[in-house]
Amino acid sequence: MYFMSNVVKVTIPNYLAGLPIPDSFGGWFRLSFRDWLALVPPTLAIGGISYVSYQTVKKAREAGQVNRAVLKEKSKVVDFIDIEDITEKASLCRCWKSKNWPYCDGAHGAHNNETGDNVGPVVVRHKENK
Ligand code: FES
Repeated sequence: MYFMSNVVKVTIPNYLAGLPIPDSFGGWFRLSFRDWLALVPPTLAIGGISYVSYQTVKKAREAGQVNRAVLKEKSKVVDFIDIEDITEKASLCRCWKSKNWPYCDGAHGAHNNETGDNVGPVVVRHKENK
């Protein structure tokens, strides 16, 4: 525990205090090559931490999404199908995995096998075709 305490309270503050960060905007232009070299490791560390944080937040946000692939460039996916255009029946995807959106292509089967889910299409049909 002492080691961690020492790193956080002494080592890191001493390291940061020793960095050649100028007090003014113009000071950045007076830094030597060696000064810039000293700034590379903390810059990479901050960039790396920022990137990993961004990716973590992005993945957490995407984990809550049902739609992972269909028309992602749109803010909302809305489809219109005229009932008169359905000749016999139409199977409409409800799992968001179909490559033939908005129609079911059977991709829900693989999804159900992988996840134990039980999703399937909604079938729209004319009453006389029951
Ligand atoms: S492919 Fe999505 S419900 Fe069949």
